[in-house]
Amino acid sequence: MTDAIAPLYRVLYEGVLSRLPEARAVALGQALLRALPIDRLPIFRLDDPRLATSLGGVRLPNPLIFAAMYYDLGILRRLMGLGFGAVTTKTITREPRPGHPQPNLARVRTEAGPGLVNCNGFQNPGLERFRRDIATLPHRVPLIVSVAGESEDDYLALAEALAPFADLVEFNISSPNTKLVYAWSTRPKDLSALLRAASAAVPRPLIVKVSPDFADVNEAEIIPAALEAGVRIINYGNTRRIEDRRLSQGVGGLSGPEIFPATLANVRRTRARFGDHLQIIATGGVDAPDKALALLREGATAIGCFTGFITRGPMLARRILDAILAARAGGS
Ligand SMILES: Cc1cc2nc3c(=O)[nH]c(=O)nc-3n(C[C@H](O)[C@H](O)[C@H](O)COP(=O)(O)O)c2cc1C
Repeated sequence: MTDAIAPLYRVLYEGVLSRLPEARAVALGQALLRALPIDRLPIFRLDDPRLATSLGGVRLPNPLIFAAMYYDLGILRRLMGLGFGAVTTKTITREPRPGHPQPNLARVRTEAGPGLVNCNGFQNPGLERFRRDIATLPHRVPLIVSVAGESEDDYLALAEALAPFADLVEFNISSPNTKLVYAWSTRPKDLSALLRAASAAVPRPLIVKVSPDFADVNEAEIIPAALEAGVRIINYGNTRRIEDRRLSQGVGGLSGPEIFPATLANVRRTRARFGDHLQIIATGGVDAPDKALALLREGATAIGCFTGFITRGPMLARRILDAILAARAGGS
């Protein structure tokens, strides 16, 4: 059945969404996701206890995580029924942010397949409004709340305020579109102090989402600092910073299959270096079951994905879950 839906989605994506100007395609895609109750269809899910995993002690029904992108409650609710084992919120900041001006999203087409480059700049409603909204969201699967700020105080205030509504809290220190957030990777000592303070103050397992642009610093300083602070989950990682003159900022973050080889290499090295002390969410470029399987084989605890959901459609999670079960049955 999922094989039958895939060509239908291809018609929607190739025939309609990818022909519209990006901003209109985003508006249409999100309107469809809000309007169509596809999360009521069991076809998109695979509930099988053999897929369950644990992240920071929180049980996930499967290891596939919807990566940080949406704050809209209607969309988050929908995503929770589309096969993912957990859903991450858009990164929330203390104050509301309009995001960077249009154009802030462009399509990228390479031999690797369709991807995106964005300079979204954390468009979000800010802490107070988001806290009111998120308090009403039922957790059909675990919810990861993503936060970011420019100071230790920002992260602590956000994490403490939102933790009661989250199963896990993700510290985004890696989005390349917001200078002061991206700069945390150049200040590992400050980050280390932040993580120690957060570990003591936040009553939920913490995740640190790192940048693929700082592999050396991640592995030499940031991950060791996280482990020392008691943070055992790394999301590796965010988009890769590139120049793109089509975007209002002239630079943005690349996502999609072109960054997959780096994700794979980063997971392989990180697992070899830190062993079982660390749980790794591997995010970046997963748009097909074989890529998810390759990351799990390299030692990923869970797999994050966003762009593949857009380019391949809402049946991607189910296809990946079928492949994981089949691979386990086949002993690979
Ligand atoms: C338009 C857009 C907005 C994003 N917003 C966020 C965000 O708010 N916080 C964050 O940590 N990552 C954000 N990301 C990054 C994704 O969560 C993910 O790490 C990245 O796209 C790589 O995975 P993918 O190749 O599966 O998309 C965003 C990505 C895109 C394309």
